Amino acid sequence: MLNDLLDRNATWSDQRNRDEPGYFARLATRQTPEFFWIGCSDSRVPANVVAGLDPGEVFVHRNVANVIHSSDMNMLSALEFAVDALRIREIIVCGHYGCGGVKAATEDLPHGLADHWLEPIRRLARAYAIDLAQIDDQEARRDRLAELNVVEGVRRVAETPILQRAWKNRVSIRVHGLIYGLKDGRLRDLDCTVGPGHFNAEAAQ
Ligand code: CO
Repeated sequence: MLNDLLDRNATWSDQRNRDEPGYFARLATRQTPEFFWIGCSDSRVPANVVAGLDPGEVFVHRNVANVIHSSDMNMLSALEFAVDALRIREIIVCGHYGCGGVKAATEDLPHGLADHWLEPIRRLARAYAIDLAQIDDQEARRDRLAELNVVEGVRRVAETPILQRAWKNRVSIRVHGLIYGLKDGRLRDLDCTVGPGHFNAEAAQ
């Protein structure tokens, strides 16, 4: 299995270098991605592939069900590096329909450590219980919860001191919420973008 993977890598790198001589040498000198992607770890939603982007074009952080925990040092470190060092100005929180993490958060079964990780989604499901109860189909209900999780994630990224500081310093960063359809391969804008107007001057004092 691993040898197959290494063989495929060798084929890919050879092909890439033939197509664009010096490609890796150029890419190795610096990265200038335009996007920071926060998405689900699901193997069917690889950021570069679904966004049609090459290596070097998107900085990526992924976790189970793209949950934004305000004290997640892993996510915060990546976010700070993206904003301050890479000077990325477009941040994307991307969820997907058919998300196993969202499904797990709606089940009455123990999932071990994942239950701690997914707790914010359970909280969202409780907060929107009345709205969600109006959707009869279980799959559609979970997909709506996946959308709500993205909108909440955008809000949480916007409320981090990293984004608040950037907006206070008049840096023009925007945070977008997208959802990906496993069944059609399409990304949809959830129209929950927040930008510099989201700077909370009172909270920052
Ligand atoms: Co998922």
